[in-house]
Amino acid sequence: MSALLQVADLRVGYGHSVAVDRVDLDVREGELVAVAGANGAGKSTLVNAVAGWSRGRPTVTGAVRLAGRDVVRIPAHRRTGLGLVLVPEGKGVFDGMTVDENLRLVRPAKDAPGRRYGIDDVYGVFPQLRDRATARCSTLSGGERQMVAIGRALRAAPRVLILDEPSVGLAPRLVMQVLEHIRRLVDDGLSVLLVEQNVRAALEVADRLYLLDQGRVSGSGSAAEMRDDERVARAYLGGLGA
Ligand SMILES: Nc1ncnc2c1ncn2[C@@H]1O[C@H](COP(=O)(O)OP(=O)(O)OP(=O)(O)O)[C@@H](O)[C@H]1O
Ligand SMILES: [Mg+2]
Repeated sequence: MSALLQVADLRVGYGHSVAVDRVDLDVREGELVAVAGANGAGKSTLVNAVAGWSRGRPTVTGAVRLAGRDVVRIPAHRRTGLGLVLVPEGKGVFDGMTVDENLRLVRPAKDAPGRRYGIDDVYGVFPQLRDRATARCSTLSGGERQMVAIGRALRAAPRVLILDEPSVGLAPRLVMQVLEHIRRLVDDGLSVLLVEQNVRAALEVADRLYLLDQGRVSGSGSAAEMRDDERVARAYLGGLGA
């Protein structure tokens, strides 16, 4: 299977400091690929550069190919239209609006190649949101807010959905609930690149995992291989992700 998203030799620098260094990474059709690493490892810088949403004015070199087409010079909103849809860390929901309004605000690009999710489809994915359709987002739980953020991204007709730490700040029970929702989307055919600081939880749902350390890929493999990887065990399972 060829990669739907292929990141090749990606480097992102802020001034003289290099935040992402020669990263190669693939997401195949229907695959859930996780990226984990310590705080400041460069995970957000990486996925922001993939989506074209770069904070500050970083220098980006290398290739980001979507279905074989290099999109690295294409602006973020047009990448979204091509199906590269990012839910940034801690963002993506308008608090003053209801769940339904948040979802209706997003429409897919006219010629969006990705699968289209109507409002009802989103409620089918997240039945809990249907009951909260007329609630203001400021009254939602953390898990529900994250569902709205993902629901909004689905409305944009993603081919590759990129999620930056969707479980951050959630109670452990809700972390798995959100990740299981994401897994179901992938089982249904979506391709997902997931940044997740909880490695143990990521390994429960992901097909493959990349470890990022100071901007570089320090290890990668199938979830099964990575569960047995000594670096994962030492660096995360006993500490960060426990
Ligand atoms: N706008 C910016 N300007 C300058 N340096 C930045 C900027 N954004 C990030 N950095 C630096 O790039 C490096 C990687 O940061 P990044 O936010 O990508 O890490 P992260 O892995 O997402 O961390 P976290 O787990 O805290 O979300 C850090 O050293 C950070 O200080
Ligand atoms: Mg981050």
